[in-house]
Amino acid sequence: MHLVPLCYLLWIFQGVLGQFPRACVSSKNLLEKECCPVWSGDGSPCGQLSGRGSCQDISLSRAPEGPQFPFSNVDDRENWPSVFYNRTCQCSGNFMGFNCGDCKFGFIGPNCKDKFLAYLNLAKHTTSSDYVIPISTYAQMNNGSTPIFRDINIYDLFVWMHYYVSRDALLGGSIVWRNIDFAHEAPGFLPWHRFFLLLWEKEIQKLTGDVNFTIPYWDWRDAEECTICTDEYLGGRHPVNPNILSPASFFSSWQVICSQSEEYNTQQALCNATEEGPLLRSPGNHDRERTPRLPTSADVESCLSLTQYETGSMDRAANFSFRNTLEGFANPLTGIADASQSTMHNALHIYMNGTMSQVQGSANDPIFILHHAFVDSIFEQWLRRHRPLQEVYPAANAPIGHNRESYMVPFIPVYTNGEFFISSRDLGYDYAYLAEPAPDFFQEFIKPYLEQASQIWQWLVAAAAVGGVITAIILGLTSLFCRRKRKRFSEEEQPLLMEREDYLGGNYQSRL
Ligand SMILES: *[C@@H]1O[C@H](CO)[C@@H](O)[C@H](O)[C@H]1NC(C)=O
Ligand SMILES: *[C@@H]1O[C@H](CO)[C@@H](O)[C@H](O)[C@H]1NC(C)=O
Ligand SMILES: *[C@@H]1O[C@H](CO)[C@@H](O)[C@H](O)[C@H]1NC(C)=O
Ligand SMILES: *[C@@H]1O[C@H](CO)[C@@H](O)[C@H](O)[C@H]1NC(C)=O
Ligand SMILES: *[C@@H]1O[C@H](CO)[C@@H](O)[C@H](O)[C@H]1NC(C)=O
Ligand SMILES: *[C@@H]1O[C@H](CO)[C@@H](O)[C@H](O)[C@H]1NC(C)=O
Repeated sequence: MHLVPLCYLLWIFQGVLGQFPRACVSSKNLLEKECCPVWSGDGSPCGQLSGRGSCQDISLSRAPEGPQFPFSNVDDRENWPSVFYNRTCQCSGNFMGFNCGDCKFGFIGPNCKDKFLAYLNLAKHTTSSDYVIPISTYAQMNNGSTPIFRDINIYDLFVWMHYYVSRDALLGGSIVWRNIDFAHEAPGFLPWHRFFLLLWEKEIQKLTGDVNFTIPYWDWRDAEECTICTDEYLGGRHPVNPNILSPASFFSSWQVICSQSEEYNTQQALCNATEEGPLLRSPGNHDRERTPRLPTSADVESCLSLTQYETGSMDRAANFSFRNTLEGFANPLTGIADASQSTMHNALHIYMNGTMSQVQGSANDPIFILHHAFVDSIFEQWLRRHRPLQEVYPAANAPIGHNRESYMVPFIPVYTNGEFFISSRDLGYDYAYLAEPAPDFFQEFIKPYLEQASQIWQWLVAAAAVGGVITAIILGLTSLFCRRKRKRFSEEEQPLLMEREDYLGGNYQSRL
């Protein structure tokens, strides 16, 4: 299965190593043994002034070599590339290339950011041309006669929507009603977040013109720590203040909105999207009594075996409810509600111990998106396993906003919860790790060859010793963050076949 993409990667890798850069072939270069060309972006060797890299002595391995070539100092290729050059560019971060002018595989743009991260940042800095937010209630707008709305950027639009759907009810004076949430603690939790992510994905596609963009997910099963909390991905920890992000992170300059629910309640006001300070996150610094560990594969399996989507009171006290257990108000191994614990979906929010941990402001942290994409994939597994009829989703008596035909807040035009209680395949997307092989074509034509290939595979590895080592390194590097992006397919095409071609074609570039 991995043969084609790996060979492709190998080919690129060797190509980069074996080239004589045109900029390094003067006699000056050869006599000084230096190949550190200027990067035109800033006029400095290796783009040093821009922090892309620097000119460094190469350090040769001293490990002994086999006896087959009994000479020394007779071939230009010995101790490569020291016969030609003993100083070359060493590129830092996501940069690569002979003058550090290129981006490492999977990164794009002038600063070589991850495509996903670059899109997030663009959304955070682009005012939505289609949507605005109300910054007071209908009554405060004099029952609509004096509209009060304001602009918002595309990322924060989604933060605001998530705040608005989950905010407390303002009852006048200093009275608030907290036991209300149009998207959590009830059956609409899964359809609502599914639609929310799909809408978010579409807005990013419109913003970037990248129709192929899909939201990546973070498979957190059995994670012992926040593996995506590094500066290369969603941000590492600040070296001095453990509650904020490292200054080297893409997200350290982001400001949150809608994080001060108590203040809005006191003022009987809506969040008006004023900036409220940096993202807070301190993974693993949470209350371990409440959340002793992140969810395991066994937790997910056990949760998936619950046959009822929703039960009883249809809220956070529901026993044996798949929804309530996946949401994280029940013990995943028993399905019994337990108010003292935050499990499954909730466990991740609590674990992040910061902006992610308060429902209303949680979408400020981009980890929210990767987390919910994976939660959605578990919902999808349950739908495929239990194949529920629409009637399985409660039609009546669910908490406000959560009945099957209720319109989901705050989307316009209107969509019901029931509309998204269907397989993702019917909504035009799939998850790579759930995709099944196209039965006929795969079974009959591909599988026999794969079986043959797997028999000779070990010999191929042995024969390609050097290639194998490089392959292993690349494989190791990619599998660390190979959280496959959700893959979109068009309804006119055969989805699974396309999925497979894509897989074999070396486009497996997801970084998360
Ligand atoms: C690199 O090569 C130059 C030119 O031959 C030589 O002067 C210099 O000492 C070498 N540096 C190292 C670290 O070998
Ligand atoms: C809005 O309408 C409601 C019901 O008609 C009324 O009770 C209330 O006083 C009105 N509020 C304002 C600010 O006009
Ligand atoms: C999207 O993917 C399709 C199929 O792989 C490709 O033909 C098309 O060029 C891509 N479009 C963009 C904008 O990348
Ligand atoms: C926005 O909300 C904050 C906090 O509720 C409040 O202090 C501020 O005055 C509001 N600003 C505007 C322009 O309404
Ligand atoms: C972080 O965890 C501590 C307990 O370890 C808790 O007291 C605090 O409220 C948490 N902070 C957030 C923002 O969740
Ligand atoms: C859930 O089960 C627990 C333990 O059996 C029980 O105490 C509790 O009353 C049940 N909750 C509901 C809403 O039935």
